[in-house]
Amino acid sequence: MATPDWSAIRALEDKPLTALFAEDPGRLDRLSAEVSGIRFDWSKTHLTAEAVAAFAGIAESMDLTGKRDALYAGETINVTEGRAAEHGAERGEGAPESVVQARMFHARMRGLIDAIEAEALGPVRHILHIGIGGSALGPDLLVDALGRDYDRYDVAIVSNVDGVAIEDAMDRFDPQATIVAIASKTFTTTETLLNAQSALSWLQAGGVEDPYGRMVALTAAPDKAVEWGIDETRVLPFSESVGGRYSLWSSIGFPAALALGWDAFEELLEGAAEMDRHFRFTELSKNAPVLAAFADLYYTQKRGCETRAVFAYDQRLKLLPSYLQQLEMESNGKRVTAEGEPIDGPTAPITWGGVGTDAQHAVFQLLHQGTHLVPVEFVASIEAGDAQDPDHHRQLLVNAFAQGAALMAGRGHADAARAYPGDRPSSTLLLDRVDPRTLGALIAFYEARTFANAAMLGINPFDQFGVELGKEMAKAADRGGQDFDASTSDLIARAFG
Ligand code: F6P
Repeated sequence: MATPDWSAIRALEDKPLTALFAEDPGRLDRLSAEVSGIRFDWSKTHLTAEAVAAFAGIAESMDLTGKRDALYAGETINVTEGRAAEHGAERGEGAPESVVQARMFHARMRGLIDAIEAEALGPVRHILHIGIGGSALGPDLLVDALGRDYDRYDVAIVSNVDGVAIEDAMDRFDPQATIVAIASKTFTTTETLLNAQSALSWLQAGGVEDPYGRMVALTAAPDKAVEWGIDETRVLPFSESVGGRYSLWSSIGFPAALALGWDAFEELLEGAAEMDRHFRFTELSKNAPVLAAFADLYYTQKRGCETRAVFAYDQRLKLLPSYLQQLEMESNGKRVTAEGEPIDGPTAPITWGGVGTDAQHAVFQLLHQGTHLVPVEFVASIEAGDAQDPDHHRQLLVNAFAQGAALMAGRGHADAARAYPGDRPSSTLLLDRVDPRTLGALIAFYEARTFANAAMLGINPFDQFGVELGKEMAKAADRGGQDFDASTSDLIARAFG
């Protein structure tokens, strides 16, 4: 079956969350899980035993487990591009030959990291990582979340083609002590190659004797990197079958492996592998990524929610919502099935979010009293990341928990402007701590959840044709001479004369 039948979900009886808790004392146990140092709690969503059973039926009809097994077996599940999706193999969970190849690539990356640490490329204090989308968001999240615990190198992740982005990094860094990593799966991305060229000029202008000798390429197209001028010994390849937004486990993770050290990078991979094994081998009704996908699909298919919000109640995870936007929206923001059939009904919701408690003073008004129903996800850590008065972390956590409780309970008031309707859903992911292992598991959880959503929707989550048209038109606008609509032509004329 290419498209799911949601009628069993749409027929489920709507009951308020408070009633669901009142009538079922086992609710919390059934709708929670503990995996790899993360407590998952979906009890404040409208999922019920009946809903989980109905979703399990749809999962069966959409062959979720078959697709999952095909994913880890390295089969060609990215059918539109004719390739496998083997990010699992990067952490040891995949087809044996792909796991061996990933280990070889990791060994090569480790060799270069050892050489840099031994100053074989000269003194290094700064890493200037250039990449965009999946070639930037993952490393940026890792370095931002974990970097403060490891005082090794200063890292700047530059993605935007706006020269302000790279100039900010150039102002901070000494060219004589900088390694430039050019991260691009295809090694054709305009923004990345322009930034790489400017970085090269900066090294030259800074008096670096062998500027190319300070540059490293992270890519699935090693020939193109060599053609660009990077010496083959400093090209760190990864497999074509690792998708861009799933690539932080490969050599794209180089700045994180360098900044955190190899042991930490291996811990990250092991945490992800643990989550892979949970996803692969746990029955659906206890499977964390699958239950999360059931909740996602409940709100899109049954309640018509158009967005979902993720709030990291942890400053170290402030980039998590941006990372998830690409992972979820580029993967599942599709309107046809893997076979090209139009999908009747919504697919991926819009992922948005921010950091708590800041967001409480900005956007939570709409979540509590607005007319949109937005499923909210709280992500927090029991262990604090700071050495300040413990009250800082206590306030952070009590606020996260109180928001979930308030969204659900609401509060009546004679004055309508002061009344809270309540019955607004949330889920909570409570980490033991933010360390490489737990973060690896957390990211792998989101990957698997995205995959489970795609499998049940009948979508191929591994292509992204929707980003191509804009790229082509930008090239045409750059070349000139093409007829655009009157508005676009006017904008081009005003900017470039
Ligand atoms: O334009 C979208 C995209 O293809 C993403 O999927 C990808 O992560 C990003 O561009 C960067 O691509 P590359 O790593 O090939 O430079």
